[in-house]
Amino acid sequence: MDKFKFRNGDEMPALGLGTWKSNPGEVYAVVREAIKIGYRHIDCAAFYGNEPEIGQAFVDAFDAGDVKREDLWVTSKLWNNAHLKKDVRPALEKTLKDLQLDYLDLYLIHWPVALKPGVQFPSSVNDFLSLDDAPTAATWEAMEACAKNGLSKHIGVSNFSIKKIRELLDDCEIKPEVNQIELHPFHQQPEMLEFCNKENIVLTAYSPLGSTDRPPQFKDPNEPSLLGNPTIVEIAHANGFSSAQVLIRWAIQRGTSVIPKSVNSVRLKQNFDSAAISLSNEDMEKIAALEAKGRLITGKFWDAPELGYSVATLWDE
Ligand code: A2P
Repeated sequence: MDKFKFRNGDEMPALGLGTWKSNPGEVYAVVREAIKIGYRHIDCAAFYGNEPEIGQAFVDAFDAGDVKREDLWVTSKLWNNAHLKKDVRPALEKTLKDLQLDYLDLYLIHWPVALKPGVQFPSSVNDFLSLDDAPTAATWEAMEACAKNGLSKHIGVSNFSIKKIRELLDDCEIKPEVNQIELHPFHQQPEMLEFCNKENIVLTAYSPLGSTDRPPQFKDPNEPSLLGNPTIVEIAHANGFSSAQVLIRWAIQRGTSVIPKSVNSVRLKQNFDSAAISLSNEDMEKIAALEAKGRLITGKFWDAPELGYSVATLWDE
């Protein structure tokens, strides 16, 4: 399994299990099964609403001797309603309580967007906090404090543009070590990959299979299929892989971490096995040619232009 080594020597397995959209009622069995298959990197978030059940799976996996805590890489994310400096540590402590862990391996700012405390998802501009009221630099200082006191071994960001990472780098004590963003053949973000490689920031690819199971408010009904794309299907058939395996292996082979989600034990195993396959340079090039600047998670739900939030300001494009 490819791994990313951090400054302090810790290693994050390149392939992790995504848990967004894995519902309470199913995610316990998924995490237990994934750990048995060999997954050692589990990607969580408070917003996914399933951390208590994942925590129970961790406890039972440790008790059963399936894995030791120190051999598991656990990521979680700070939700947008806890960006105020005073709210960061309590949010992380709540996640730790839910996950039944003493520490996280990685804690990420989920979005560069601040909501008022208590607001889970915005329904109007009144639900947002402006970046003057909740500056990202202050949120980051609180993240740094969490790293210093050992609540999370590493800290990073998610859905941050190059510009926003640069702003953080200019004004931080602890550098972000990861940026988790949407990456797949239709949205490859090569400039971001180059920038992060230069800055020693690991990129983690979310929605690597196209996240077709996401809720309607995050979805365009006419979006193209990644798993059914003729080039992906052709490469899969020619090599005896599945389309999902091609997409996952492509992500790893181009030097990113990747967190495919599945709640199905056959697909969990199939996805895990992608870490051990290989794609030819020719196939990698064919996939690179699928670039379409086709972002699926557009961020249009963070729409409060009065406070400076729009798709344009989110991605700085
Ligand atoms: P399921 O959970 O039923 O396996 P993403 O990781 O991009 O968010 O995509 C997740 C979606 O892809 C889910 O609908 C998931 O369904 C599906 N999926 C996961 N693994 C595979 C696979 N190996 N083949 C086909 N679909 C998959």
